Amino acid sequence: MVESVNPPHRLLMGPGPINADPRVLRVMGAPLLGQFDPVFREYMKQASALYRGVFQTRNRWTLLVDGTARAAIEAALVSLIEPGDRVLVPVFGRFGHLKVEIAKRCGAEVRALETGWGTVFAPETLEKAIREFKPKLVAVSHGDTSTTMAQPLSELGHFCRDNDAILYVDATATLGGMDLRTDAWQLDVVSAGLQKCLGGPPGSAPLTLNERAEKIIQRRKHTEEGLREMGQRDGDGPVIRSNYFDLAMIMDYWSDKALNHHTEATTMLYAAHECARIVLEEGLEKAFARHARASKALVAGLSAMGLKLYGDQAHKMPNVTGVYIPQGIDGEAVRRTLLEQHNIEIGTSFGPLRGRIWRIGTMGYNARADAVEQTLRALETVLSQQKLKVPRGAAVDAALSVYR
Ligand SMILES: Cc1ncc(COP(=O)(O)O)c(C=O)c1O
Repeated sequence: MVESVNPPHRLLMGPGPINADPRVLRVMGAPLLGQFDPVFREYMKQASALYRGVFQTRNRWTLLVDGTARAAIEAALVSLIEPGDRVLVPVFGRFGHLKVEIAKRCGAEVRALETGWGTVFAPETLEKAIREFKPKLVAVSHGDTSTTMAQPLSELGHFCRDNDAILYVDATATLGGMDLRTDAWQLDVVSAGLQKCLGGPPGSAPLTLNERAEKIIQRRKHTEEGLREMGQRDGDGPVIRSNYFDLAMIMDYWSDKALNHHTEATTMLYAAHECARIVLEEGLEKAFARHARASKALVAGLSAMGLKLYGDQAHKMPNVTGVYIPQGIDGEAVRRTLLEQHNIEIGTSFGPLRGRIWRIGTMGYNARADAVEQTLRALETVLSQQKLKVPRGAAVDAALSVYR
């Protein structure tokens, strides 16, 4: 027989997953309940209310999609897009391409608007593209962990309303770590994952949608045979092409009707519930400030080591930092040594950035002074071992001066 899993205690300082808050892991050991147990239904209601707070919304439909963040992206897109619909995707990194790919699978006519990696779009560029292409849906990332950039969104909702488009925002990498005002910015559908700024494990994807989105989804509602009751009528729109990610069915399941759909991932609901409690208990403003400070400290430390930061710093996410791998240094060897000798994970990169930058996260539970300090100290040691001239002690001093 193989042994039980007994993983090493790593400090996860990549772009996610990060270490879950121990409070979240504790609730995950709570006893399972059936999904129609009144106690469990009460936890579902509480989770909806808690995530209204986190998403800064009054949306009735604020729920959890079971699966990683991508599950909620797919649920939103497959439930909103009908074959032939026009979809505009501003692409500023890998996760823009992901939305292009999912929208195409949904049968959309997709226009990908691209900007160089490490940059974001000017609001006027997005407005012009929406006016010209007239999409039914605009699907955009708030923060793209692949490039570490965050797209300003405060005006986009208004451009979409003016042009009769629905706006979907993938806030996987930013929810809980960066200001995101669902209602005030007129974002129609927003989704996230737990494993980044919310300080939980991957496997549950919070999502919120407003009445504009609900109207489209309800028109496509089809109740499964076997659950249909006498006299019940389906919507007159085309059926949603996924059963698991059918938001009309998931909404029925979360509603007081509690219509059966999937078996709830009970333990993940407990985790999501606790993640939201932690963020709201701290207060959104304080959580955003904690992320910004950790990022500032990390940036100060990396700069003091003489390393060069990646991308447009004015639009960098406050929770992931891209830093160039210095000339002559084997980036993967550094990551391996950090992991094996220091138990610290930092991120590699994809596509055009592969082998060029490391990505270091300071998010959720790990947006803390001691985590930043430990990472900088270990990186300095490993780079010195690789014969890079780094001023010893300068990085930690610079980072700690941000906290002082
Ligand atoms: C912006 C963004 N969207 C989507 C995802 C995919 O999330 P998951 O791997 O949880 O499905 C990520 C993960 O890094 C992300 O950063």
